[in-house]
Amino acid sequence: MIPLLWFSLLPAAVAFSVTIPCSPADGAPFVSPSLVSLSIEQDRWPEWVGTSSKNQFFLNTLNNLKTITGAPPDIRIGANSEDKTNFSPEVKYNEDIFPAPTAVVPYPEALNITVGNAYYLVANHLPRGTHVTWGVNFGQFNITAAVLEATAIMNAFKSPPFQAAGVTLDFLEIGNEADLYANNGLRPAPFTSSEYVQQWTTFATNVSEAVNLSSTDTKFLIGSFAGSSSKTTGFSPQAIYAEGVLDSNPGKLIATFSEHHYSGSFCTGNGGLLQDLMTKATIRSNLTIYSTDVVATHAQKLDYILGETNSYACHGAPGVSNTAGAALWALDYALFAPQIGISKVFFHVVSTMVFEVEFPNFFQGIGFKYSLLQPVALNRSILDGSPLATPLPPHVQPLYYSAIIAAELRGCKDEAQISEITVNDTRIAGYAAFEAGELVRAVFINSQAFLQGSTNRTSIHLDLEFTGKGPSTMTVKRLAIGFADDTSGVTWGGQTYETTNGLVEGKLKLEYAPISKGLDIAETEVVLLDFSRGKGHEDTS
Ligand SMILES: *[C@@H]1O[C@H](CO)[C@@H](O)[C@H](O)[C@H]1NC(C)=O
Ligand SMILES: *[C@@H]1O[C@H](CO)[C@@H](O)[C@H](O)[C@H]1NC(C)=O
Ligand SMILES: *[C@@H]1O[C@H](CO)[C@@H](O)[C@H](O)[C@H]1NC(C)=O
Ligand SMILES: *[C@@H]1O[C@H](CO)[C@@H](O)[C@H](O)[C@H]1NC(C)=O
Ligand SMILES: *[C@@H]1O[C@H](CO)[C@@H](O)[C@H](O)[C@H]1NC(C)=O
Ligand SMILES: *[C@@H]1O[C@H](CO)[C@@H](O)[C@H](O)[C@H]1NC(C)=O
Ligand SMILES: *[C@@H]1O[C@H](CO)[C@@H](O)[C@H](O)[C@H]1NC(C)=O
Ligand SMILES: *[C@@H]1O[C@H](CO)[C@@H](O)[C@H](O)[C@H]1NC(C)=O
Repeated sequence: MIPLLWFSLLPAAVAFSVTIPCSPADGAPFVSPSLVSLSIEQDRWPEWVGTSSKNQFFLNTLNNLKTITGAPPDIRIGANSEDKTNFSPEVKYNEDIFPAPTAVVPYPEALNITVGNAYYLVANHLPRGTHVTWGVNFGQFNITAAVLEATAIMNAFKSPPFQAAGVTLDFLEIGNEADLYANNGLRPAPFTSSEYVQQWTTFATNVSEAVNLSSTDTKFLIGSFAGSSSKTTGFSPQAIYAEGVLDSNPGKLIATFSEHHYSGSFCTGNGGLLQDLMTKATIRSNLTIYSTDVVATHAQKLDYILGETNSYACHGAPGVSNTAGAALWALDYALFAPQIGISKVFFHVVSTMVFEVEFPNFFQGIGFKYSLLQPVALNRSILDGSPLATPLPPHVQPLYYSAIIAAELRGCKDEAQISEITVNDTRIAGYAAFEAGELVRAVFINSQAFLQGSTNRTSIHLDLEFTGKGPSTMTVKRLAIGFADDTSGVTWGGQTYETTNGLVEGKLKLEYAPISKGLDIAETEVVLLDFSRGKGHEDTS
């Protein structure tokens, strides 16, 4: 039992009213319980999930989300290292060849990965109900390797332990970011989308026949491009549809188009970059560039996802991607995506070398800045590679809170809709959540970066209006952040996920307030309003 507070944190410099719809607009998107999903590099996959025993820290962070929405995040294992992986029945889990660690690159990504059957089998440690996407090698142009990998993957998922674990394979992905192959030496230049379609079809024909894919529930994911021309020339969904990728036998097994996106490719951070990342307008412009691709994809009756995304490539810009402010970016980004028809957003949680062409000197590995979490203890410093007397234990990064908040906004009902609330302000974004057509919750984000060294934290007062007969009371839950560039110490409703086991700790703190008072929202703050609790409700925790 905690005291219920009347809350007016800071003097509000600005006040305006926002109108929250009581019912969803026509076409308001239905949002998946696994809207926020994860993409993981192949090279260290067994460390994430655990081998002979489960990595309970990682699984706890997934189960936290499952407890809220009813479904764990989808997991994609692939990315840059997907195109460096081969299969050998002689290998148990994986044998990675790493470049020597250096002070600059303490945790480099593997150059060469050889995996065996157990590498795939450990996916049955994932929470019940997890949907998996797995990548096979296309980059090295070795059909035998792709077929061997796909066969091992399919055998794993149809084995009794997987059936018992309730972990299913949604998609096979053939190759990662083939639109960059000509730049990174995996194909002779020029490499065109029509060559991609032709080669993809060849690989997919052999893969699908080897595993009899059409007799299973597993489909192909197509694209996984690093960018898009959004035209029928260059690499884009429009181009490959026009070039007939869907027409072949394996093409008929394609169910989803996957796009990859990073907001930029900065390797060092600063407050200005953090504010750019968090800014409402740049979040929207980063996503709306794909609007026409989404429409073209839906016209083919395919789903459209961001299959790999995060803030800044180059394993995240230190001082930006690992900060509390980045959590506000991720929340607004994930919630805006479905507004333009993107059904899932897979945050990439191990570094990639997507931009290695632009940044040849930045060769990235674990110890990455933009993860939602760091799943294993590290015994070398992530800053300079020096040995650590006390290993850095697994921990969540501030970004993890965005996944929790998006999950709480959505809730656990099958048919949940989320629509953006029109807010005439450059800093405040808002979203309303509906269950069975009824308004249940709303979230507001103040994306003004309040940076270390600042002293004058202003807030904005929101007066709440409703399109119909709205609620009269609400509970308010706040994401408390010291400074936008803090890298820890964030609390959500007074509680923390920055714990040794990844489970939430601390007393839940909610404010209980009449709607008529409105609310204040400080710079770099998120509030979740819950309208579903009746007047006179007493909070329990
Ligand atoms: C990767 O490593 C394996 C095992 O050492 C080796 O057989 C193979 O040639 C290597 N592949 C590449 C592309 O370096
Ligand atoms: C691909 O499939 C064709 C037709 O079944 C077969 O002849 C060929 O050997 C396969 N290629 C590889 C590399 O497995
Ligand atoms: C292709 O992959 C197979 C299976 O791993 C391997 O035996 C073969 O050496 C590879 N071919 C080349 C050219 O690397
Ligand atoms: C593929 O699966 C279908 C349906 O289960 C079955 O009829 C067919 O015989 C299988 N083909 C092969 C080559 O196993
Ligand atoms: C994406 O956001 C970044 C700021 O994080 C901005 O610099 C960039 O211009 C944006 N890109 C687009 C296409 O809007
Ligand atoms: C760190 O752990 C790895 C793998 O367990 C081990 O090989 C390495 O020697 C350890 N390094 C230090 C500095 O303790
Ligand atoms: C939005 O706000 C600006 C300035 O705060 C005001 O001039 C404008 O009329 C507002 N627009 C709408 C549609 O309310
Ligand atoms: C704090 O910032 C607000 C808005 O920028 C400004 O109006 C006010 O004067 C500032 N107060 C102090 C004490 O600096």
